Amino acid sequence: MTTQAVPSFCLAGRDFALVIEADAAGMPVWRHVGARVMGAALPWRLADAMPPASFSLDARPALSPVPTFGTGWFGSPALLAHRDGGDFAQGFDACHFEWVDKPGHLRLTLTDSVAQIRLEQDVRLDPACDVAKLSARLINTGDSSLDVQWLASGTIPLPSTGDSEAMRVRYPIGRHNHEWAMQDEPLGKGIWSRENRRGLTSHDAFPGAIVMMPGGTAQSGPCFSAQLAWSGNHAQSIGWCDEGFHVWQSGMLLAPGEGRLAPGETLETPEWWLTFSREGSDGAAQNFHGAVRGAMRWPQGGMKPRPVHINSWEGFYFDHDEARLKRLADDAARLGVERFVLDDGWFHRRNDDRAGLGDWWPDAAKYPAGLGPLADHVRGLGMEFGLWVEPEMVNPDSDLYRAHPDWALQISGRAPITARNQLVLDLANPQVSDYLFERLDALLRDLPIAYLKWDHNRDLAHAAGPDGRARYRRQVAAVYRLLDRLIDAHPHVEIEACAGGGGRIDAGIVQRSHRFWTSDCIDATARIAMQRGFLGFMPPEIMGAHVGASPAHATGRAHDMAWRCAVALPGHFGVEMNPATLSADERTVLADWIAFYKAQRSRLHAGRVWCGDAGDGLAWQAHGDDDDLLLIVYRLSPTCQRMPPPVRLPMLDKDAQYDVQLIRETGSPGYGQPDAPAFAAMRATPLAVAGDYLAQIGLAIPMMHAESAAIYAIRRRAA
Ligand code: GLA
Repeated sequence: MTTQAVPSFCLAGRDFALVIEADAAGMPVWRHVGARVMGAALPWRLADAMPPASFSLDARPALSPVPTFGTGWFGSPALLAHRDGGDFAQGFDACHFEWVDKPGHLRLTLTDSVAQIRLEQDVRLDPACDVAKLSARLINTGDSSLDVQWLASGTIPLPSTGDSEAMRVRYPIGRHNHEWAMQDEPLGKGIWSRENRRGLTSHDAFPGAIVMMPGGTAQSGPCFSAQLAWSGNHAQSIGWCDEGFHVWQSGMLLAPGEGRLAPGETLETPEWWLTFSREGSDGAAQNFHGAVRGAMRWPQGGMKPRPVHINSWEGFYFDHDEARLKRLADDAARLGVERFVLDDGWFHRRNDDRAGLGDWWPDAAKYPAGLGPLADHVRGLGMEFGLWVEPEMVNPDSDLYRAHPDWALQISGRAPITARNQLVLDLANPQVSDYLFERLDALLRDLPIAYLKWDHNRDLAHAAGPDGRARYRRQVAAVYRLLDRLIDAHPHVEIEACAGGGGRIDAGIVQRSHRFWTSDCIDATARIAMQRGFLGFMPPEIMGAHVGASPAHATGRAHDMAWRCAVALPGHFGVEMNPATLSADERTVLADWIAFYKAQRSRLHAGRVWCGDAGDGLAWQAHGDDDDLLLIVYRLSPTCQRMPPPVRLPMLDKDAQYDVQLIRETGSPGYGQPDAPAFAAMRATPLAVAGDYLAQIGLAIPMMHAESAAIYAIRRRAA
């Protein structure tokens, strides 16, 4: 094998490497994206070593990090643009390669002197978490308007394999009340694609996916994963390319006209986050957890232990009464709750979902002396005070709308489309964002608010500004600016991102928020799959997880208190019900789980997360590191075996010894049968078990009823 003397630019992390080379004409081509295989110079590229296939262009095109349309690349382009129908084909004729920050940040500046565009493609790799961030910036250097239909944040090849059916794509679908329903399909030889036009991240089309390479599993083998850091319309695709590999790309989806660039104007894409792991989809998820942790901005510079919430919504809905809410605070404080969040229903004329959005001051009938007395009461009990807002929205029945009907997004001549009786404000209008900043700023100054739950309860339709042009992209940029402005003015405040539950969960909004409301469905059994989907892309400490009422409001299904607590345990724990409706026994159980959560949260929220299935209705989840783990085993459905299957923990060190103790169960030992002596012993004192036994044969699980959990502490024995 010979090595090539071509300029090559390598970004290498722990297990992940991206290599870009200059071709003979000095243009960039992807050389490699995937496992870190560096060490020596790379051998020849297959494309250079093979003669062009028959019926090919004489110059064989290789995949550029920015493939264009119409100049020899026949796969998916990263750019689609034209000038009044002309300049529809772009081909770069110069490229400047620059290490903005060696070796973690490479910038390619590509120019097309014919179509008169300049494009900067950035590729960064954070070796600490093995997450690459790709983004593009297009500048119209011509003297007429350029219409851009599509500009990908990034385009990569997936490694070539002879068995593309063995490559699987996993991605969430869903709806309000049932987010994160993971799908799993072979990639095959077509195009897999997902698009979202709802104007916000959406419940159904999270902008990310996981690609399991042949041999990849949850805990081992090669796996790619990607997500777009953007809270608006987006598109992602993985298409088979006849050269013999798949091409994956992602970017924001532009509405007609949104990509029109005047001479000198720039279009900037959001970042596309991409990772690779040799440790399966859990390894890729752990990489993303690291990247999200690194990108978040916490008050005081670091995350404090995640405080237990009480949220007023499902316990009280719009029915706010100051005395009853003070009683809620008293009950919550007695349970061990640390943060009280006053949800929807507190502001001017907000008695149901038909009026009030936009009028962000306390309702005088419900709160004659404002929110101060309630907030002071909460703080007097030692809890933080938090408040729900939905700033981007307006009800037609509001003082704000009556004064400024032109502030809502709308299309002149078309009847407004309402959803939940509300319209969307045009945040790109500076008067609107100034009004919202002033209202929120006044609340944050007047009241001791430590927390905002920031909601967004509808999809966008008729999203045009007064000029009649589409405003989707500018709306997202404007809400980011408003959040950033508020965070700068009130850096002590934490923000929860919510959109009818999980409609705005993404790596863009996470850089200006501190918690996600995972779903409006608080049914514990339904939550397990949703939480595991969420944990594929986001870390557990920002996953809002509440203990709701029984029966669950979203599903009507009843669950005992301990099961509800065990399911909420791994996330950012909260309670969303009126504890006054609970029996004394239920209150004792809830208080005990709150104390357990507090004792475990540093372990649950700092380390790594693994999620597995043992079959026979058993799902498991481990949090911590491989020296010190909390293992939660959930039995979802009744066993059909006389002896339940063991739970294998492949991430444990095969050469180590572990102490394993069964520290908590949601049901009584034995579940109506005589208790097994082995489990009685494991409850009393830790049992020494070899790592290879736990990894390959597995941990014994007690007989459990459906919808019950067993929790183990697993610690490495000192050598
Ligand atoms: C959305 C949220 C809920 C609650 C309501 C209030 O549905 O997801 O948690 O805040 O709005 O209207």
